[in-house]
Amino acid sequence: MNTTQQLKLEQEKTLATPRMKYGLLAKFLFVSMDLFYGRKRTLSKFKVLEVIARVPYQAWENVAYAAITRKYGTPDFARRIFDFVTEARHQQDNEQWHLLILQEIVDKEGIRESFFHHRILPKIIAFTYYHASWLLYVICPRLSYTLNAHFEDHAEHEYALLVQENPEWESIPFESMLEKDYGTYANQADLFRRIGLDEREHKELSLSRIKKPRFS
Ligand SMILES: [Fe+2]
Ligand SMILES: [Fe+2]
Repeated sequence: MNTTQQLKLEQEKTLATPRMKYGLLAKFLFVSMDLFYGRKRTLSKFKVLEVIARVPYQAWENVAYAAITRKYGTPDFARRIFDFVTEARHQQDNEQWHLLILQEIVDKEGIRESFFHHRILPKIIAFTYYHASWLLYVICPRLSYTLNAHFEDHAEHEYALLVQENPEWESIPFESMLEKDYGTYANQADLFRRIGLDEREHKELSLSRIKKPRFS
């Protein structure tokens, strides 16, 4: 689903879909992001989002590995947990490509960033968010999946708007050392449409898990 026509249709679908009703924690995160990085959608701000986006998957992976250690006496159950680990790992890696591609573009465009706001603060936010996701998952996985679904829904909509606000990206080619990892796209607009679609898929996966037992 990576042709310009398909990606444009998906972007329109996102823009036509209302945002989810975000919970308190998600709202607090988005308001804090606006306070620290401004309301304007910038590549540097999205990079911070991507630093944070990986950590719930890391937290789930951590909890799941601890469960495998406890449950290896029942290999069939431990094997099922491992499938969950693999899936969390896949999403974590996907967020990682988003982050690295964004960093490449920021470097290429020579965008200036402050050391505190773009190196130190994202790590502090990610550290806090990791522990919140971890704790919620241990207490009640549904809460952690819901928080992640809200985060991903926000990211999906923000990317769709970012592409809409930058029509010149339609004629900027996507050239990256990460093409082998992430795929080739006709231009930078399609690249960001695809990233937005990834966020939708992450959201849907979290939503599909809300009613399932832990690690499934
Ligand atoms: Fe992402
Ligand atoms: Fe995501």
